[in-house]
This record gives sequence, C-alpha cells and structure tokens, in this order.
Amino acid sequence: MVKKRLASGKPCEKCEQAEAMLRDRGLWERVDEVLWALEDDPDSPGMKLGRELGVELAPFFVVRDGEGSSVYTSALRLVRDHFPQARGGARRESRPAVPDDLEAVAAELADAPPQRILRWGLERLGADCGIAFSGAEDVVLVDMAARTELPFTTFCLDTGRLHPETYRFIDRVRKHYGIDIQLPSPDPAELEPFVREKGLFSFYDDGHRECCGIRKVAPLRRMLSGLRGWISGQRKDQSPATRADIPVVQDDEGFAGADGRLVKLNPLAGWTSAQVWSYIREHDVPYNELHDRGFISIGCEPCTRPTNPGEHERAGRWWWEDETRRECGLHVPEPANIDGEGI
Ligand code: ADX
Ligand code: SF4
Repeated sequence: MVKKRLASGKPCEKCEQAEAMLRDRGLWERVDEVLWALEDDPDSPGMKLGRELGVELAPFFVVRDGEGSSVYTSALRLVRDHFPQARGGARRESRPAVPDDLEAVAAELADAPPQRILRWGLERLGADCGIAFSGAEDVVLVDMAARTELPFTTFCLDTGRLHPETYRFIDRVRKHYGIDIQLPSPDPAELEPFVREKGLFSFYDDGHRECCGIRKVAPLRRMLSGLRGWISGQRKDQSPATRADIPVVQDDEGFAGADGRLVKLNPLAGWTSAQVWSYIREHDVPYNELHDRGFISIGCEPCTRPTNPGEHERAGRWWWEDETRRECGLHVPEPANIDGEGI
C-alpha cells in the first residue's frame, strides 16, 4: 500500500480511511508493506513508485499474484476483486456468534418464516455467507436478503452449459438488486482433458456424476472455501428421496469453509413451490423466462427439459437416470458426491 503524508506532516485522510476499512474487515495483515509518499519529497519511495506506475492518487495498492500485478486506487474495489467474502462486513467480532449446537437452532427455527431464518444467518455471517443462486427459490432468497439491508454474497456456478435464458436472468437479477453475482467456473485443468476424452455429452452414456463433479461440485468447493456459510433454496418437497429431511440450518459436513466450519441454511425447506411463486408474484421478483415455457426445475441446458402437466417438478432433470440418483452433488455429503459411490 502507498500512503501519503501531507507537507504539513499530517497523514492524508483518505489513506487513513482506507487503512481503517481494511482493518475493519480483518484484511490489514494482508498488506505486506506500506510505502510513504511524502508530499514534499519527490524522491520518497511512494512518490517514486507512483511515477513508475503512472499513478497520481494516494492511497493506492499494488497487488501481486501468480498472474502479474495490478494497481488499485480504490480500497473498496480492491476488496471487491480480491476479498469478496470481506465486502461490506461489520467486524466479525461484533456479530453474534454461531452457536456450537445448530441442531437446537434448527429445532427452534424449524417453523419460522424464511425471512427470520435468513436474518439469523446474515446477522452472524454477513458477507461471509453466500446465497447459491440459480432458480426461482434462490431469487426469492436474494429478494428477502436485500430487504434485510445486511451484507451478503451471491454466487452462481457457471457450468458453461446453462441456457442462454438463464445467463440473461442472472444479469437481470444483478441489475435489479444492484448486487454482484460471482460466477465460479470449472477449472480448465480438469475440464479440458475431460471434454477431450469424453466429448460434451458423456452424461447421457455414463451418468451425470463426472460432469457435475467437474462443472459444479469442484467450483462450489472452491467458492465455499472462502466463505463461512452458504444459503441454498432447497425445499423438502422437491425430492422425497433426497430432501425430505433437510433442516433449516445445519453444519455442512460435505464441504469446508474458510475456518473449516461451514454453516448451511435452507430457509425455504418448509415452503412449497406454490408459496415460492406467490412470493414472486406478490413482490414482483424477476424470474427465468423458461418458467413461462413449461420448465419448473432448471439446471444445465442438456440435462433439463420441460415437464408435462402432472409430472413431478424434478421429472425434467437428468430424466434418463434413476429418480433416486437425481442429485448433482451440491447437497449430498462427501465422499459420495465425488467418488461416484452411492448417491
Ligand atoms: S441440483 O442439485 O438439482 O442442481 P437444484 O436445481 O434442485 O439443485 O437447486 C437446489 C439449490 O441448489 C438451489 O436452490 C441453489 O441454492 C443451489 N444450486 C443449484 N444449481 C446451482 C448453481 N448453478 N449455482 C449455484 N447454486 C446452485
Ligand atoms: Fe454436466 Fe449436466 Fe451436470 Fe450440467 S447438469 S454439470 S451439463 S451433467
């Protein structure tokens, strides 16, 4: 970080604010070095570096990573790009703690309205908590979270195989709520050999597990490793075989968060699809235009089709596979979700 000291000997106010903001978010330890730019000394280290990089404003930050270096003249933008989990967060120490016993909390909140469950999580985890955004349920959660005015993070796993309509929907939601939606993508080092060897539609022959593992589960694991909690839009009645028992809050045993422990909230566990849709209509919430064309549960384009009247809502997902195996591994504990054993 380059900080400026005025000719009067006083520190620059903006630099002090930037430092306070980084300290508040627990990021000050990430600053390797502070160089001073002395207003009345053009040869001071900060002044020299500014000339070298063509930067005229202080404070500024030079970030060096594996891909080279970048310069930021805004501490907020630096946080947004490199420490998204720390955005907008009140000091972690000043938030209520997450209790050790989440089963007791789940029992207490089991019948609470989703808004209360969501607030419970955001008050404790703030922007360290990410809404896993994809479908109708999740945009309801984004709407409810935005109304709390508490910080939160939103991400959508960009498998590379979503419908064009879904990509447009993501962008509409981003603009509608003025939020960032992070789009973690598959690791090319895993994806490219897989596609080279098996092509783009191997899941029709040998099941969706391998492709979902690379395109969804691994990026989710990476995303969650920078968070302390996440929020999903799962509902119990989506799948009697796999979701009937989901609690409204739980320790996620399948993935690890930044401190090891990872809290998972399922605020809509007790809601029906009809409740989700009446919330959408009542609050004028944006939704994926595919829903108007017969799609109910929407995933990747090659693995989703519209459902016929009377069919279960997940009948259009991985329809060529056994009904009890229609989970992609986001919500099923390890090791089954990566090893290809069991569900
Ligand atoms: S899936 O496991 O079968 O694909 P489903 O479509 O029912 O999941 O969605 C359940 C929840 O998983 C969603 O409410 C959302 O929280 C999360 N989810 C599903 N797909 C994604 C995605 N592409 N990105 C982020 N979260 C997702
Ligand atoms: Fe691959 Fe289909 Fe899974 Fe998407 S849903 S990651 S295309 S198998």
